Amino acid sequence: MKPRILVTREVFDDTLAFLDHSCEVESNQGDAAFSPGELARRLADKEGMVCCLTDVIDADLLQSAPQLRAVANIAVGYNNIDVAACSAHGVMVTNTPGVLDDSTADFAWALLLGAARRVAELDATVRAGQWKGWQLKQWMGVDIHGATLGIIGMGRIGQAIARRAAGFDMPVLYCNRTRLAAEIEKRLNASWVGKEELLKRADFVVLQLPYSKETHHLIGAAELAQMKPTAILVNTARGGIVDDAALVEALGAGRIRAAGLDVFTGEPHLHPGFLALKNAVLAPHVASSTEATRTRMAMTAARNLVAALAGDTPPNLVNPDARRQTRAI
Ligand code: GLV
Repeated sequence: MKPRILVTREVFDDTLAFLDHSCEVESNQGDAAFSPGELARRLADKEGMVCCLTDVIDADLLQSAPQLRAVANIAVGYNNIDVAACSAHGVMVTNTPGVLDDSTADFAWALLLGAARRVAELDATVRAGQWKGWQLKQWMGVDIHGATLGIIGMGRIGQAIARRAAGFDMPVLYCNRTRLAAEIEKRLNASWVGKEELLKRADFVVLQLPYSKETHHLIGAAELAQMKPTAILVNTARGGIVDDAALVEALGAGRIRAAGLDVFTGEPHLHPGFLALKNAVLAPHVASSTEATRTRMAMTAARNLVAALAGDTPPNLVNPDARRQTRAI
């Protein structure tokens, strides 16, 4: 008998066709997420699930899903999942690393360029009919080329962001738990520094690290005060890494020049202060969203799930210790 699985959000036809081949699929192809209660009810008889970063997979949910053996997140980040609880229940967790690095890096640069050259503000101005003609001192931005790029979180995506800096002749400072190999640092023109030094020296600070208890409010009022008043902050990582209230305050007071933000605490709701700030470029958590990349992400999750339910080690297993547990609640 095929294992029963739940697909919690809309995916591509090819993803569903692939899953249908080896699983009995129940899927939500509407545009609204299941409520936590609905999710629990639908998972009661499922052995696997393909989910998204908007689904919270915690110990309570696992209690109501006694047959669950694998959770395949369509995202590289998995802070929506209580991995320890999954391991304890013998539930494998997988993510989608590698397939979204370049698209996410492209978008970090889109935000960086957009914030530096005020693209969203200019677009709104032109559309509102407020462009009265060319002037020398008009809507001046800040140069990107030759500036210093700081990257906090130098995993695959951070390195993809750094690779793009060469085209802008930008030296890179980076902050990461572990130092990169010397030849990678050389290729990326990157120097390993502490967080404080990076914040003080960088003209652009890009955040590209996972969200966890340790990285909660990694950038708050004190860190924003360490940045140059001309610096620009870009967050393509996760809401919660930045203290949004402190950022709204710093942007409003001109303590830093601008920000480009793809992620927010409590998204899709965001701190209302952002909406009034012309020096904040705001995006709705789309850094990986190109058709090619999102297709690859969904298919990666599907392959992970099918492998896990077939008793194989899925390619992107996050919690190898889950395989040592037997599923019993
Ligand atoms: C998106 O935010 C991801 O983690 O893949």
